[in-house]
Amino acid sequence: MKKNLKLGLFGFGCVGQGLYHVLHETHGVKGEIKKICVKHKNKTRPIPEHFFTFDKNEILNDPEIDIIVELIDDANAAYEIVTTALKNGKAVVTANKKMLAEHLEEIYNLQQKYGKPVLYEGAVCGSIPILRNLEEYYDNDLISSIEGIFNGSTNYILTKVFDEKKSYEEALKKAQELGFAESDPTLDVKGYDPKYKLVIAIAHTFGVFVKPEDVINIGIDRISNLDLKFAQENNYTIKLIARAFKQDGKVYGFVAPQFIENTNPLASVRNEFNAVQVKGAFAETQLFIGKGAGSYPTGSAVLSDISALNYDYTYEYKKHHQDTDLEFSNDLSVEAYISFDHDSKVSISDFVEFQSGYASGGKQYMFGKISLNKLQAFSKIEGIGIILSPKAVVATSQAVKQLAVA
Ligand code: HSE
Repeated sequence: MKKNLKLGLFGFGCVGQGLYHVLHETHGVKGEIKKICVKHKNKTRPIPEHFFTFDKNEILNDPEIDIIVELIDDANAAYEIVTTALKNGKAVVTANKKMLAEHLEEIYNLQQKYGKPVLYEGAVCGSIPILRNLEEYYDNDLISSIEGIFNGSTNYILTKVFDEKKSYEEALKKAQELGFAESDPTLDVKGYDPKYKLVIAIAHTFGVFVKPEDVINIGIDRISNLDLKFAQENNYTIKLIARAFKQDGKVYGFVAPQFIENTNPLASVRNEFNAVQVKGAFAETQLFIGKGAGSYPTGSAVLSDISALNYDYTYEYKKHHQDTDLEFSNDLSVEAYISFDHDSKVSISDFVEFQSGYASGGKQYMFGKISLNKLQAFSKIEGIGIILSPKAVVATSQAVKQLAVA
């Protein structure tokens, strides 16, 4: 039976306004915004003033409010709001991927302790209903990998640069204007935002809680015109790919740009669209595509969570209960192109298996199998670019050792 839920909203930015709009356009969800807590007192807002408060406790301590909808930017403040809401006996909907990734295990434990759910479909790949599918649809399937495009802004930038020959700076500015990019866009372009989403997805795919600082992220900010030329000449495009997979009792996961063959379905995922490819033992490969950023697409994912609370839905973290022996590891080699200025310190000995090298347009390139940890070290040095090969040919160190002795 549907209830008429009272909502207390935190934040009225891009996603908050999107939620307000979709909530008023839909007749299926019985929910009503009672109050909205915002930070800035002197901002003009498009809805009546009586909705707003500047005091978080007015919402958190209101016994009439059933659900706290947390849509603010600040991950630390969001953590305070979400944990207080749970302690005060309120269900929570949040889209704050950074906060979730940093505190997911604790938030899981708090849900068990206080018996109230936290739903966060809007935090991972915007409008794509991936978390509930991972929880419910794939419950009995053995998922071997999950990968795809987990960030709308960088996909938008790469599309504009490739298809419309716009400059990187111009495309980034537009992504910010359209409300796709984070307030700090380095979180997008350096691959932190898709990493936070991957951390959340890993918990629901493999049941492992991994700390974001343990997951390697390499961004798109070092992609050069020479890389674009190389991609075009070889019928590739470049996408920022987040991936996690299970092998020999371990879970591996990382975010990095990759050359993608034009025949790969991910190549045709453009602009702010995201894509998630799930490989399961029985269902085999399935691809979800949808808008990954923006006011209404993310607002609609948040609305879907509110709607799910109408029928007391809660994540059960089924994979965590099923398969707790899995461990996260970075002990992995990938096939990558490393580009660098002549004075940067990259050498053949950095590779697990060096394959080729050449110089072009004042840059040097080296290609081969290289460890993830080495890539992470390179990603911190100015002047070094990293792009995975189309197949990425991922091998665990164990497998590389076996290859070496064979
Ligand atoms: N900055 C994020 C993106 C917003 O571009 O995907 C949606 O999470």
